[in-house]
Amino acid sequence: MEIQWSSDLETGIGIVDDQHRELFDRIIEFFRVADQNDTVLTLQTVDYLAEYVIEHFSAEEGIMIKDSYPGFASHRDEHSKFIKNVYQIKRKIAVGGVTPELVATLKTDLVDWLVNHINVRDKHLATIHQKEVSRYRW
Ligand SMILES: [Fe+2]
Repeated sequence: MEIQWSSDLETGIGIVDDQHRELFDRIIEFFRVADQNDTVLTLQTVDYLAEYVIEHFSAEEGIMIKDSYPGFASHRDEHSKFIKNVYQIKRKIAVGGVTPELVATLKTDLVDWLVNHINVRDKHLATIHQKEVSRYRW
């Protein structure tokens, strides 16, 4: 499975798109290290990924608050679940090490979640955001 940013994931909100690209880069880095079976290094890349996930989600949530976005609570809940999931992955790796089975499952789970979340939730947010911007011209 190839993990790669593609332009059809663009939402049209510049900062969100830039951060999504960075998120993909960090996910790619995580799997590059995980494939080497080095548990300590892999745990470090989970932190590297998780820090950015938190930073990115709070940027998106800031946009939602400014726009009075109606789907804020459920979108934020999806973010929270994903962050929890990343830390559960960290615990699993810390306890059982990096196994090829875990890496294969994560490749599907993390990337599918992210692609689906961008396509459905973030693109909807972007639609509302563009309306707000054009209505108030800020
Ligand atoms: Fe989001």
